[in-house]
Amino acid sequence: MKRRVLIADDEKNMRWVLGQALSAEGYEIIEAADGKEVLAAISEQPPDLMVLDHKMPAPDGMEVLRRLRAKGHTFPIIMLTAHGNVASAVEAMKAGASEYLTKPFDLEELKLSIEKALKVGDLAAEVTRLREELDRDYDVSGIVAADPAMLNIIETTRKVAPTSATVMIYGESGTGKELVARALHTLSNRASKPFVSVSAGALPETLLESELFGYEKGAFTGAMQAKPGRFELANGGTLFLDEIGDISPGVQVKLLRVMQERTFERLGGTRPIEVDVRVVAATNRDLQQLIADGAFREDLYYRLNVVPITLPPLRQRPSEIPLLVAHFLEKQKAGSKHISAEAMNLLSEYQWPGNVRELENTIERIAILSRNDEIGVEDLPAEVRAGVAMCSPGERCFVLPEAGVDLEEVELEFVKQALERTGGTTPKAAKLLGLTTKTLEARMEKYGL
Ligand SMILES: Nc1ncnc2c1ncn2[C@@H]1O[C@H](COP(=O)(O)OP(=O)(O)OP(=O)(O)O)[C@@H](O)[C@H]1O
Ligand SMILES: [Mg+2]
Repeated sequence: MKRRVLIADDEKNMRWVLGQALSAEGYEIIEAADGKEVLAAISEQPPDLMVLDHKMPAPDGMEVLRRLRAKGHTFPIIMLTAHGNVASAVEAMKAGASEYLTKPFDLEELKLSIEKALKVGDLAAEVTRLREELDRDYDVSGIVAADPAMLNIIETTRKVAPTSATVMIYGESGTGKELVARALHTLSNRASKPFVSVSAGALPETLLESELFGYEKGAFTGAMQAKPGRFELANGGTLFLDEIGDISPGVQVKLLRVMQERTFERLGGTRPIEVDVRVVAATNRDLQQLIADGAFREDLYYRLNVVPITLPPLRQRPSEIPLLVAHFLEKQKAGSKHISAEAMNLLSEYQWPGNVRELENTIERIAILSRNDEIGVEDLPAEVRAGVAMCSPGERCFVLPEAGVDLEEVELEFVKQALERTGGTTPKAAKLLGLTTKTLEARMEKYGL
């Protein structure tokens, strides 16, 4: 596409000469004969660049330059100043001109200046664009992600957030279900309205019912006054139903009705209450299995499972562990504390049954307890350290032989597996085992390998 250059000069001849020269270079030319015309042309459509004469009927070039920069226009502006007027050239640069040329100037010089200014402008725009992209990537409500499956989830989260579609989040404990639920809220146009969370598993049936739907005065003994439920409190916003797999059949029926009709009554009430609530639910249980067992209603499942999001366990995305560790150290304001390469290997190999939450707690603990700036293997919890000879980064753990064998047999077995997996290359096998090549060779000799 042609770049648009606005030529602002009160001398008709000058405009003509510049116009001819620049359109020959492939630019689209717009002309303005005074300050007012410049401002009018720009408010219609800002150019990619402007060549601006300092001396023009009011508002003059300098004034126009100031006003445009004050308004936030960033396109490059090349000032043309009278010969010998150094003061106004300096003034122009201070006011935000990209460059100044003193009249009379060489046309070639002007062409080069234009080219250069456009390139700088493009770069600046590219930097701004990249920075915005980065902000978006890293600022999805503090979710750290690098693994392709997780990046996909972030993409889905971003896409469905602005809709009112019900989202069902699956994942083991500590995989970040609540984090995603909050991101869905934050990235939606409901962000200024409440995010209300209910943990279904934690409450007995009747309590959960009154929590969700509220009650009228006198609904039951002790109901001294009416109380709105979480559905009402979340009106206009998002309701996060955590541990949905644990709710009783009775509450399931009531929930189904709200999901279908968007209306309900408080306990002990008859007045139908209508709400506009976006529902996000989560579970660490296998809903399909619960349905098969008759513990979860299939019709409710279909109402909830509109957009399913499944968070993989941390052990399936070990590439994210270094990023998460850095994130949690920063969260801890751990200063210059950092993890040694060996310790990071062990952290990446560990299976993390408690997922990201367990990793977060671990980092929190060692950041507080470790004395040195470098957090080493010795600072890690025993269960993490135990992986030392058995696993290697990104690879599957060694297979332990059947129970009941003695230690030497285990050792022999590991040495064999390591050699097998490295095609008999001792330095690699040693590395896999966390041994020096010399030690490994000694073991091999011992076992007659
Ligand atoms: N991708 C991530 N980036 C940064 N922090 C994360 C990430 N995933 C999880 N966390 C953090 O780990 C902790 C556990 O996450 P969250 O509470 O969302 O898990 P959950 O799946 O809801 O767990 P549970 O099923 O036990 O309720 C939180 O402190 C959360 O901020
Ligand atoms: Mg949770």
